[in-house]
Amino acid sequence: MTNYMTGFGNHFSTEAVPGALPIGRNSPQRPAFGLYAEQLSGTAFTAPRAENRRSWLYRLRPSAAYPAFTRYIGAPNFVPANRDAPLAPNRLRWGPIDAAPGTDWLDSMTTILVAGDGPLSQTGVAVHLYACDTDMTARAFVSGDGELIIVPQAGALTLFTEMGRIDLNPGQIALIPRGVRFRVTLPDGSARGYVAENYGAPFRLPDLGPIGANGLANPRDFETPVAWFEDVDGEFELVQKFDGRLWTTQLGRSPLDVVAWHGNLAPCRYDLARFNTINTVSFDHPDPSIFTVLTSPSDTPGTANVDFVIFPPRWMVAEDTFRPPWFHRNVMSEAMGLITGAYDAKADGFVPGALSLHNQMSGHGPDVASWEAASTADLKPHKIDGTMAFMVESRWVFQPTEVALQSAALDPDYDAVWRGFPKAQLPG
Ligand code: FE2
Repeated sequence: MTNYMTGFGNHFSTEAVPGALPIGRNSPQRPAFGLYAEQLSGTAFTAPRAENRRSWLYRLRPSAAYPAFTRYIGAPNFVPANRDAPLAPNRLRWGPIDAAPGTDWLDSMTTILVAGDGPLSQTGVAVHLYACDTDMTARAFVSGDGELIIVPQAGALTLFTEMGRIDLNPGQIALIPRGVRFRVTLPDGSARGYVAENYGAPFRLPDLGPIGANGLANPRDFETPVAWFEDVDGEFELVQKFDGRLWTTQLGRSPLDVVAWHGNLAPCRYDLARFNTINTVSFDHPDPSIFTVLTSPSDTPGTANVDFVIFPPRWMVAEDTFRPPWFHRNVMSEAMGLITGAYDAKADGFVPGALSLHNQMSGHGPDVASWEAASTADLKPHKIDGTMAFMVESRWVFQPTEVALQSAALDPDYDAVWRGFPKAQLPG
């Protein structure tokens, strides 16, 4: 079991060995035990205090000690977008992918969608799927491109990170800052899920405005692990994602050797069941922005680089209201996944582990069966229960990768769910 420190964006201090953490200064001339001090900056040095994210790490060896990277030939589906391919405005949907036997978390990563200009311009987001059955042992991964939200759908994960160990079950999410190295093991023997890789500004909690001081994801429910390290010499590979591509080097030691750290740039986990859901108690279906867990702002206020949004269990009580999500076209682009249960705008075909895409200005909403049922439903209070869907919503259009477009998991006729609506009948 791991001990966790609670809060979002707090300045934490933690040491796995008593006396390892310097007091009163960040870089003493000789840190305790001969540890090496290193600053990990997640924002520009000069970012305003409220935005500034950095931590100081005290480790067995400096992370600067490594030989040159060469191209990594594993993880064949962990790819950048093909910008040369024409982008059709089609709605798309993928079923769950299966694990290839003998594949670990990293090598199973399958990029489905990439939005925005990408890592070099620090804009946009990618959506990946994983399905694996093998532990990462003598190797670690790091994304230099973006911050990761890991969303398990089936099977627990253990994330051994530079800054602590995170035990993660379906229903929880983990947030791994850009640049933090980690490896993944599978306590249940296999695992499947989603990863959103945020190339833009770090995720933060959304402002609450008239909601007030409480609600949605509350800061105290985010859990950051205490310092943990492994003292391992010998063969150890580090795979780094950089500019959308993967690179490898041999370290000769585990890079997960941080004995103590302090700061506000750190991985954490969050249990989606702790989300304090807000909804209407009168009429109309509110915009799904009320379900925002975390947001990465863009340069335009109120227009996110990416929002991470959930559709949790909740009471539906609205009167004279079409209760499921309405038909709409959106300047923002939407990728959706399903962790468990059923989603209230789709009668079937959108199963746990699936992923759907509704890009900028593509019409979407309930399928025919969901529309018919909701249009004639007796509007008593009703609880949507046993479900958890999520959305990765971006101001940038998503480009499906070639891997995604060629995948057997791609629904050949997703458009069919909107086929067969009866025509409205005007009077006379
Ligand atoms: Fe939508």
